[in-house]
Amino acid sequence: MTELILIRGDITAQRVDAVVNAANNRMRGGGGVDGALHRAGGPAVLADCIQRFPDGLATGDAGWTTAGKLPARWIIHTVGPNYAAGQRDRELLTSCYRRSLEVADELGADSVAFPLISAGIYAWPKEDAAAAAIETILEADTRVGEVRLVAYDAATYELLATARDRLEGEARGSHVK
Ligand code: APR
Repeated sequence: MTELILIRGDITAQRVDAVVNAANNRMRGGGGVDGALHRAGGPAVLADCIQRFPDGLATGDAGWTTAGKLPARWIIHTVGPNYAAGQRDRELLTSCYRRSLEVADELGADSVAFPLISAGIYAWPKEDAAAAAIETILEADTRVGEVRLVAYDAATYELLATARDRLEGEARGSHVK
């Protein structure tokens, strides 16, 4: 059974087996979460990105590298759709969570921390980004025991909590005959 935990904090400080990076197709670092994880993880992360992703990573896909100096063992990089650039296919966003959990299962990771993919620089509407994350995590068929959704600010945390209450309520309702 996968436990979903909402956290207000910094993804770089999460003491889990794998932290998920909101990367871009080039896989050579960036701003936001990408910048924070590369900075905290150190140059070993970029070196591994170059080595393992010579041609980058497709939107909606996920792949892992070392976590370098981070408390986590691995970084699972995933590329969300860039809403600001007109990429509006929600399947690509939910695929980020599904594929990241598949990679976590391949690694044997028992605990994984996600940021809210595409909800920052890629400008996906935050309410829907939160719903997509929670829906996909709640219905995922994964061996990961603990999934954390990490909100960087209070407003995002409140959004996640509201979405979680609504979606878990719907899930319970669907089982009640
Ligand atoms: N810890 C947790 N969450 C964070 C952190 C952090 N240190 N920094 C930012 N966030 C939050 C943002 O507030 C947002 O809600 O993570 C969410 C994702 O924001 P971004 O990092 O901007 O990711 P995204 O919107 O997917 O855009 C990806 O931005 O950093 C570049 O290289 C990256 O081009 C790619 C694009």
